[in-house]
Amino acid sequence: MEYMIKTVAVIGAGTMGAGIAQVAAQSGYQVVLFDLKQGKAEQAKATIAARLEKRVAKGKMSLNEKDALLNAMFCSEALHDVAGADLVIEAIVEDLAIKQSLFRDLESICREDCLLSTNTSSISVTSIASALAKPERFVGLHFFNPAPLMKLVEVVRGIATSPSVTETAKTWAESCGKHAVITRSIPGFIVNRVARPFYAEGLRALETGVAQVQDIDHIIKKSGQFNMGPFELMDLIGHDVNYAVTKSVYDAYYQDKRFLPSLTQKELVEAGYLGRKSGRGFYRYDEAAEQPSINFSDACALPESLTVSIQGDWNVAPSFVELTQLPNSHPHGEPRLNINDIVVLPTQGMTASQLSEELNQAVVVVDYCHHYGDSEVIAIAPALQNTPQQTNTAIAYFQSKGKQVLVLDDYPGLIVWRTWMMLINEALDLVNQNGASMADVDVAMKSGVNYPIGPIEQGGRLGWQHVLNTLTNLQSFYCEERYRPSPLLRRLVIQAKGAVV
Ligand code: NAI
Repeated sequence: MEYMIKTVAVIGAGTMGAGIAQVAAQSGYQVVLFDLKQGKAEQAKATIAARLEKRVAKGKMSLNEKDALLNAMFCSEALHDVAGADLVIEAIVEDLAIKQSLFRDLESICREDCLLSTNTSSISVTSIASALAKPERFVGLHFFNPAPLMKLVEVVRGIATSPSVTETAKTWAESCGKHAVITRSIPGFIVNRVARPFYAEGLRALETGVAQVQDIDHIIKKSGQFNMGPFELMDLIGHDVNYAVTKSVYDAYYQDKRFLPSLTQKELVEAGYLGRKSGRGFYRYDEAAEQPSINFSDACALPESLTVSIQGDWNVAPSFVELTQLPNSHPHGEPRLNINDIVVLPTQGMTASQLSEELNQAVVVVDYCHHYGDSEVIAIAPALQNTPQQTNTAIAYFQSKGKQVLVLDDYPGLIVWRTWMMLINEALDLVNQNGASMADVDVAMKSGVNYPIGPIEQGGRLGWQHVLNTLTNLQSFYCEERYRPSPLLRRLVIQAKGAVV
């Protein structure tokens, strides 16, 4: 079947429907915006008009363009008005039975060559389609909020969706200027699944007293180069929404422990501390509230006599060697920086205390920085066996390099590194389950949640072996399924070693 899209019907004129209608009209499509509730579609159109007027005032859009766009948008309160549509996008309440009933009605109203789609973020596309006589023309078109600004659309194929429908939906989303990625109808699709560890690892670090909320956010932004820290982001999304997504992914994977929701977040929901929208979440948002300061280490003094040397293969973090400005005369074997009697090691998922016992030496581990020279902060964790003087010497050394130092509790994998390892592993697991291509996973995480780099590209840069080592160490430390390496990661490690000759 050939699908030609000129007219788009959007069902549901709430937050998402209004945004999607604007996107479609902006991209030159005729739009029918329908809502069950009287006056709702007109109200949404007025909101869109107000948004566009702001763009006109800023010189980002001409008056003619604005008028043409609004003229292309027809508001309706009678479902039969969508009969002429070539593509229907449903954005109504998140309820399977209600969505199925709507699509049954639509199937009898719309032409046979009309493509039917849903913007659901958590319901199986396959289940919605099961109510249809022709489920092959049904597909997910998952926009992100706010739809006019967010570049990503996940095109979700159900078990019955025909390949030409998936392709047409992708091409249509691209014609709206979006990055369209294809995924299967699996819980969380791409973004809501791969992003789970970003929140979960932040929450676990907090719950186990590794650092405070503001410290974790700070290190994730400054060293990890993420736009927002996990707690700021959860406060923005709303804990009710974020907790519900976590629970739905957890339940949909038959309570797979890797997606276990956090009791801390549950308690925030119970308290009504929903984040920005309720004025309080991990942070307070009332005018009088003071934002907590970061717990940087106080200034420490370097000892009078100081011997520093660097050695080993620092491929995992070449910018660390640049930071030290030291010659690396033995660039093979385990990477280490020696400061007097202390050894500084990049984290690989073992605690500093474990390493200290193994090496019989004072140990400090450093968290990962996207670029050690550029980051104003460095996070470290000292072994329990160190004397305070030994730890202070390591702190003073990094302070002498112009860094603010955050001392974390001795925690395997630390914060930025461990978050990346878990994101990479989750991304690989999704690919392993044929959920999406590697390229699409990276596009989705960069344009759906603004990650600085796609997790799979990051895994390749850091080295699959390092990722595997870290996860293996974490799994053995916690004896938990949560850290089990993806089978695809093991394959990549073997492939990276190359052919046996
Ligand atoms: P919303 O509550 O803002 O809007 C839903 C609209 O649908 C309301 O105006 C309501 O009157 C209308 N409606 C309800 N039942 C209807 C029916 N049977 N026929 C016609 N109109 C009906 O909801 P929101 O946030 O826009 O979400 C809509 C859908 O988009 C949901 O499936 C949600 O999971 C999904 N989604 C939401 C995102 C978000 O951040 N809010 C992001 C991505 C997807």
